[in-house]
Amino acid sequence: MESILKEVLLRYRSENGSVVSILQDTQSQLGYIPQEAITYFASELNIPESRFYGVATFYSQFCLKPRGKNIITACCGTACHVKGVDKVVNAVSRRLRLSDNDHTTSDGEFTLEKVACLGFCSIAPVVLINGEVFGKAAVEKVVKKIDSIARKDDER
Ligand code: FES
Repeated sequence: MESILKEVLLRYRSENGSVVSILQDTQSQLGYIPQEAITYFASELNIPESRFYGVATFYSQFCLKPRGKNIITACCGTACHVKGVDKVVNAVSRRLRLSDNDHTTSDGEFTLEKVACLGFCSIAPVVLINGEVFGKAAVEKVVKKIDSIARKDDER
């Protein structure tokens, strides 16, 4: 991890206001933003850690915990809420055996994330599975897709 962080730092050291870029680059390299990375960048750039955490927690694209191999993103914006996304979220949580506080399965295969409006309100409720859009997402369809991914992973 240290060499990756040093490379990221080298790319942005001379840029002012590069907190977002540093976080994006770190997440793209490591899959998430570890606490150690924030401590390292804050110290090297003499920027308070709180500024990194402020940005990382403001934008839903950033993740401060390791994510699973497969990402399920449920839109919990108003239109999707009205159209019953909670049923889908609950079914996915049950299928993946996630508790209220867990977002990633214990085997690291799946992460369930809830986000605000994804911009597809006309086809609410919307769920993304590894970037594939499931509009008018029915519980059965989403769970079937998860089953199919899990089967493929088991075969490898
Ligand atoms: S509220 Fe879900 S896509 Fe807009």
